[in-house]
Amino acid sequence: MIDFHAHILPGADHGSDGLETSLRQLELAEEAGVDTIVATPHFYPQTDSFTGFLRKRERCSTELINHYHGPIRILLGAEVHMCVGLDHLKGVEELCVSGTSVMLSELSLRGYQSGISETFDRMQDDGLTPVLAHVDRYDPKLIENLFAMGLKGQVNSEPLVHHWGRRRYLNWIDQGFVVALGSDIHGTRIGYAQYTGARAFLGSRADRLDRRTGELLKTAVRLQPTE
Ligand SMILES: [Fe+2]
Repeated sequence: MIDFHAHILPGADHGSDGLETSLRQLELAEEAGVDTIVATPHFYPQTDSFTGFLRKRERCSTELINHYHGPIRILLGAEVHMCVGLDHLKGVEELCVSGTSVMLSELSLRGYQSGISETFDRMQDDGLTPVLAHVDRYDPKLIENLFAMGLKGQVNSEPLVHHWGRRRYLNWIDQGFVVALGSDIHGTRIGYAQYTGARAFLGSRADRLDRRTGELLKTAVRLQPTE
């Protein structure tokens, strides 16, 4: 079972205030049966320094992996807030899940930015595979336009548990547009309850999603302790 979207790095963003929280998050993930987590701290290219982000992510992930001795395979990624021209950022591929060309890409909630589809196009031409984060949060027409360009998406657990429009996401899974499920865990309050509920709702589709995500992540390199 794969969690493709999780804020579990201690102190990297508002998802975890420190090591204790992160270790508890991983314990909850283990109890839910998760075996692979992609750690996806927020990166906002408009406001964050790129090198500063990479340094902080390195520090936080090293702290976590040196203290976590459980069975979960942790992969390093980012939730990258999309902006026009992101493809021009030197070293942008470092935001992909390590060992892959897959980038969790978050659209602005303020609506469609003109030029964003051209940016996605160029990223794809450069060999990157953007996966749209929580496609459930946006205007479905916008998302379907991006799917039509060949982009894929990740769905969050929460709307699958109690969103009145959740059948739409089943259709997107059945059409091959959605390729991953994510807890988008922040803190420990909700933990993996919604993730578990979402999988129960998805039934055999959850395993299908895992296979698709596994295919995307087949070259991924897990975090290794440095001590
Ligand atoms: Fe997130």
